[in-house]
Amino acid sequence: MDTLSDRGRATAATSMRSILSPILADRYNPSSNPDGWVDMGTAENYNMTSDISGFANKHMTTVAQTFTYGSGPWGSERLRIAMARHMTKYFRSVNPIVPDDILFANGLTSICELLGWNLCQPGEGILFPTPVYQAFATDFGAKAEVKCIFTPFHGVDQFSPACVEKYEQALEKAESEGVKVRALLLCNPHNPLGQCYSRETIIALMRFCQRRNIHLISDEIYALSVYDVASSSSSPSSSSTAETATAGPDDNNTSSQPPLPFCSVLSFDTTPYIPTDLLHVLYGFSKDFACGGLRLGCIYTRSEALMAAVGAITQFAWSGALNQTFAYLMLEDEEWLDSFIQKSQKTLAERSRLARDVLDGKGIAYSKGSNAGFFIWVDLRPFLPLGNEKDEEIEPSDAWARERELVRRMGQKKIYLNDGGSMNAEEAGWFRLIFSQESEVIQEGLKRLWEVLGI
Ligand SMILES: Cc1ncc(COP(=O)(O)O)c(C=O)c1O
Repeated sequence: MDTLSDRGRATAATSMRSILSPILADRYNPSSNPDGWVDMGTAENYNMTSDISGFANKHMTTVAQTFTYGSGPWGSERLRIAMARHMTKYFRSVNPIVPDDILFANGLTSICELLGWNLCQPGEGILFPTPVYQAFATDFGAKAEVKCIFTPFHGVDQFSPACVEKYEQALEKAESEGVKVRALLLCNPHNPLGQCYSRETIIALMRFCQRRNIHLISDEIYALSVYDVASSSSSPSSSSTAETATAGPDDNNTSSQPPLPFCSVLSFDTTPYIPTDLLHVLYGFSKDFACGGLRLGCIYTRSEALMAAVGAITQFAWSGALNQTFAYLMLEDEEWLDSFIQKSQKTLAERSRLARDVLDGKGIAYSKGSNAGFFIWVDLRPFLPLGNEKDEEIEPSDAWARERELVRRMGQKKIYLNDGGSMNAEEAGWFRLIFSQESEVIQEGLKRLWEVLGI
């Protein structure tokens, strides 16, 4: 007998556990598990996790107070002070960040849900670029029932101010269909495209949000995971975004400009462009700090109303005191952190170069505008298969079915990449490839990929 609620049944149908568990439980290791899955889909800063555990083993101590409820479910005061100082310094904040304007929860996943809950009525919308980090749909949609409006760019560079017109169109369309739009989420640096937005584009988007009276949520979780591209590709740097016979600058709506440094929305005076209480910044420990398992992320907002609303229900997403203790110890050790971040950026540049060189060697195109994050956006459109597992023909025009078939074939070789379909890409055939891992893992993953592609 079915004993679940309607919403419980609907939620169960969306579980990714059966797909992801086998991959996560059977990971490739060159010596201990050579037949395991090569995970080039989970975005973790694998290169830096040993440094983190080294820091923990050396510095992590507790006192009796550590095991109490402490200063409550909003993030410990010491952590908020340390994070305020960190963001003021590294995000080059034009105004010193005030600790009380920061609230912590157990990861940005939870912060997104809290935002969805507090900014939207069920069925109201938030605008996202495409392609986009695949989990936003669940983070905002599963419980808060936000309608995610994935904005297509149809060949317009989504990192240029011209993108505003596309967001305008997406908003108009949603509202003509009865969906009230409440916010735009900007992921800067962008996941999965790995590009940073210029100040000019950010300002254009702020003006758009002001005009439409909607919130701008700037997810800056990859803020410090920016690397030097000049040393990260041996191929001539490209003025277009992806180079093959089939790829053109319009294909994935990425920038045709050279990569830009990261520019936080905190780094300039935004008051002429957007009301302060419509602007919110998200940050966390999962990427720049290589601590996905710490489950710790924060929102910085100067909206008292939003802070009150989020703070009223953050106890459901309360991060453990041990985790918070470890987090402030890292933030407070500025000398260690400076060198950790430098090493992380250098390693990202090296591993990105390795992946790009191997791709170049096989003539595989990828988005060349990226200089941030852990990923490359790879163009596998020329390799979309025409037959399925039963050797039946797939309609050539059914590119999404062909992409799914390619995913299935990758699974047979135990290689996991994120397909563009799951990231709401506009066109089938693009994949996000994670390079922030050991060289052997990158090489093994790409070796298996060539076997799948038959090259
Ligand atoms: C852009 C972006 N935002 C948010 C998250 C979620 O982060 P957390 O681990 O803090 O829940 C991720 C994780 O991949 C991400 O890529």
